[in-house]
Amino acid sequence: MQWATLAAAALFAQNVAAQGSMLRFACSQLVVERTDPLVNPGMKYTPHLHQIVGGNSFNVTMDPNNDPAKLSTCTSCSFVQDKSNYWTAVMFFKAKNGTYTRVPQVGNGGPQGKLINKGGLDVYYIPSGKTTAFKKGFRMLAGSATNTDPKKVSSGNICHRCWTSPNENTFVGAQPCSGSDTVEIPADTKCKMIRQTIIFPACWDGTNLDSPNHQTHVAYGQGAGASGGGACPSTHPVKLPQVMYELMWNVTSFADKSIWPSDGSNPFVYSMNIGGAAAHGDYVFGWEGDSLQKAMDNNCNLNTACPKAGLTTQTDAQYSACTKAQQAPEEVNGWLKEMPLGEMSIKA
Ligand SMILES: *[C@@H]1O[C@H](CO)[C@@H](O)[C@H](O)[C@H]1NC(C)=O
Ligand SMILES: *[C@@H]1O[C@H](CO)[C@@H](O)[C@H](O)[C@H]1NC(C)=O
Ligand SMILES: *[C@@H]1O[C@H](CO)[C@@H](O)[C@H](O)[C@H]1NC(C)=O
Repeated sequence: MQWATLAAAALFAQNVAAQGSMLRFACSQLVVERTDPLVNPGMKYTPHLHQIVGGNSFNVTMDPNNDPAKLSTCTSCSFVQDKSNYWTAVMFFKAKNGTYTRVPQVGNGGPQGKLINKGGLDVYYIPSGKTTAFKKGFRMLAGSATNTDPKKVSSGNICHRCWTSPNENTFVGAQPCSGSDTVEIPADTKCKMIRQTIIFPACWDGTNLDSPNHQTHVAYGQGAGASGGGACPSTHPVKLPQVMYELMWNVTSFADKSIWPSDGSNPFVYSMNIGGAAAHGDYVFGWEGDSLQKAMDNNCNLNTACPKAGLTTQTDAQYSACTKAQQAPEEVNGWLKEMPLGEMSIKA
């Protein structure tokens, strides 16, 4: 993430964080599989495929009374103390011949430093003002996996950007989820990458660690985009760190329009077989003890070690080595005859 102009940078600094610092780090893929301990606990072969990153205590069922920080023996994210799990749908490219393949993922770049991912996503925790870290057992969901109406989604919270520069390091545009960013997935051969941003609500009711739809215990504040969330409503007065996922889908190898579907449909779809309106992200908190609160209080910044909060980092080789076997085994690589939905996927 890089701000296009000094004015935007100043505005960001003003909006975000009295402290002006935020956590920004890479997480490699732990596993790609059809499980979802938040929405479909206990189920193998859930309705759609996810890519999951974070602590290796991730499981088909995750009892909120268990502490991922204690159960995990490694994390695929760069801070050793972060055993949280983060997951999203995966993006597929649908070819003219009817087969599907997963769009490769890379880390984000920019002046704040290149993030190195083996698949996976980049995570941000953006504080603003007095910020209360999540408690053990906290979880939440942003977006809706069944939504097909882009008007029901705010492009200030969940958005896509056509990344026209040749690589992830040359920045395109302004703040995430601003300007011409869209709810829909861009379908344009000029895009080298598609950057997906998922910004979670940053206001909490102060009581519930979860809610039946995993959403009503949290709310968006008045701020748009990656502003730290802005003022909270009276119903959800507690300001949380603003969690943001950033995914760089590398579409460079799909730029040949002759392999796009002949019916003119968008070749890029999420694993629900729906477009950007159904983009969603899941979060299960799992930082060790009060390390996240300390990180917020001590202005820990980006992906660097932060002794004041006890945060230590791993090399990309170390965090990328933290993986899990699929618990719902099926083929998810290569060209697939079907998207792994109801049926198990079959390799073409
Ligand atoms: C996942 O849960 C199953 C039982 O539901 C258990 O046997 C297994 O050890 C758990 N795996 C991990 C990594 O926690
Ligand atoms: C389908 O199209 C893709 C993209 O052109 C190609 O890589 C793949 O080999 C094709 N598969 C079959 C079974 O024709
Ligand atoms: C994106 O994909 C292209 C085409 O496959 C490849 O050459 C390039 O190295 C990829 N970019 C990254 C950052 O992996």
